[in-house]
Amino acid sequence: MEKKSQIDREKLPRHIAVIMDGNGRWAKRQGHARVFGHKHGVTAVRETVEAAAELGIQYLTLYAFSTENWNRPKLEVDALMELLVRTIKNEVKTLMKNDIRLAVIGKTDMLPDRSRNKLAEAMEATKHNKRMTLVLALSYSSKWEITEAIRAIAAQAKDGKLDPAGITEQTVTDALGTKGMPDPELMIRTSGEQRISNFLLWQLAYAELYFTETLWPDFRKDDLYDAIIDYQQRERRFGKTSEQIKPITN
Ligand code: IPE
Ligand code: IPE
Ligand code: MG
Repeated sequence: MEKKSQIDREKLPRHIAVIMDGNGRWAKRQGHARVFGHKHGVTAVRETVEAAAELGIQYLTLYAFSTENWNRPKLEVDALMELLVRTIKNEVKTLMKNDIRLAVIGKTDMLPDRSRNKLAEAMEATKHNKRMTLVLALSYSSKWEITEAIRAIAAQAKDGKLDPAGITEQTVTDALGTKGMPDPELMIRTSGEQRISNFLLWQLAYAELYFTETLWPDFRKDDLYDAIIDYQQRERRFGKTSEQIKPITN
């Protein structure tokens, strides 16, 4: 049976987050430089975005570059920034056609001007699009994001605009880059690594985690469908017992 038709449209995650990992290993296996893998990773991004939008996923967050990734060799960082500019330039038309809004989370002031400007243009051009929001985590780290949130909340408290006793989980949620978005119900990581690598630590509190050996440049629509089908077979208990959440059948 076709994979897509096995997906229950009534039980779709609203938000899927992806750690796109394994580009370097993919390239190395074929005797190429790491950057070759990043270039081919763009095809996987295109497929994943298209598949998610077609299914009716509301938010797709892709971890494209971590703050820790700035410590990679300059050659690789420069190539990734160049690839980012080129990809955004090429993809805006497709985002418009598919009614997809682009958003960014991360410490974007660290990006080169050219990349930041292209991003700003693309976000402006797509800001009224409604079908899906594509969130790029760029120069992102969750500890950085949470630290920024704490700083903003503390400043409000200092100015007397916020009573510390009135700080709730919602206050923190609203101070993050993902403000207004539902938490991801499903987090996918490719390439066999089973770690979070400083990604959405707050937002993933109750996400279902899905790990696949597939390297990112090989990831295709069917791989996304596999992850969603797996997710739909999980029992999400949120601390309750299995009996409590099962519909009563007799
Ligand atoms: C993911 O692939 C892309 C980025 C982190 C930018 P990697 O470049 O981490 O590839 P591996 O993990 O070394 O194979
Ligand atoms: C995580 O991948 C970041 C991105 C996919 C952008 P890494 O390859 O940088 O993660 P670690 O350092 O191996 O955990
Ligand atoms: Mg990696």
